[in-house]
Amino acid sequence: MKATAIAPANIAFIKYWGKKNDALRLPLNSSISMNLSGAFTTSTVEFSPDYSQDTVGMVGEEFSQKEQNRVITQLDVIRKFTGCNDYARIVTKNSFPKGTGAASSASGFAALTVAALHALSFSATEKEMTILARIGSGSACRSIPDGFVEWQSGEQSEDSYAYSLAPASHWELCDVLAIVSKEEKKVATTIGMEGINTSPFWKERIAGMPEKLQLVRKAIADKKLHELGKVIEEDAINMHAIMMTQDPPLFYWNDSTMRIIHTVRSLRAEGLSVYFTIDAGPNVHLICETKDESTVAKKITSISGVETVLLNHVTKGAHITNDHLF
Ligand code: PMV
Repeated sequence: MKATAIAPANIAFIKYWGKKNDALRLPLNSSISMNLSGAFTTSTVEFSPDYSQDTVGMVGEEFSQKEQNRVITQLDVIRKFTGCNDYARIVTKNSFPKGTGAASSASGFAALTVAALHALSFSATEKEMTILARIGSGSACRSIPDGFVEWQSGEQSEDSYAYSLAPASHWELCDVLAIVSKEEKKVATTIGMEGINTSPFWKERIAGMPEKLQLVRKAIADKKLHELGKVIEEDAINMHAIMMTQDPPLFYWNDSTMRIIHTVRSLRAEGLSVYFTIDAGPNVHLICETKDESTVAKKITSISGVETVLLNHVTKGAHITNDHLF
């Protein structure tokens, strides 16, 4: 009744912002991401008839009551799906320090879901696992399949799932993550995206999605960084333009974020092939090929305000390990 899973965080090339169904976390648009090798969560789950309640812990970090409740809600989803009535003990560990801007909810809910199903010896398909992880945290469904992943928005729960577009070995792409702030984000994504339709621009972004998604699928298939980079920068800027024009507005960038954006543009003008993307926070993900990784890391480290640089390669999705945390 005990199992442990490891799941990577992921960075979206085409991003998810806004839902058509809040409870089921059905997104307004499909999204595409790559799994990150340097940021992952390990989660051990044990169900037992001897437990009289769920207990949730994290190695070396505080786990707020609110975060624990969200984990327990996800356990309820899994119990309902599998028909299990037992309580569970869960211990979780992140490979990256809290607040580094790496998406811990994606890796966390992916690892939890895969470990819990395995602990119950429930042989779910990858598709089913992504559907369940999505209910915990939307982007978590993209941390289960291998390498480069698409989350198909779908119209109902059964057809809103993620699948691999290409394995990790397909393309030596990397994400040089520049950390400019370790503060927790002030507005959580779940809350932030509830205000999407107060922006006058959101419909335009959604209308342009099918074309952008197709460009990204093709750029990944053809391994064309220039084509990929152009679209991912555009989509990150569009998403932040929507955030900034919501009521109340959400400003996730800070002055260091802006300095990095300008630097990336000048590095490109000098011939270095590097592109940026930014999630719901001020930290900047720099996408380049592995051959340019150390040059990019060196240039970015010297920018004022950059505290740490984390190197990530494309990696496989969630998987089971025998190294239990308890
Ligand atoms: O799934 P959540 O609640 O962590 O939301 C993710 C939202 C973004 O990171 C901003 C975009 C994305 O697709 O990852």
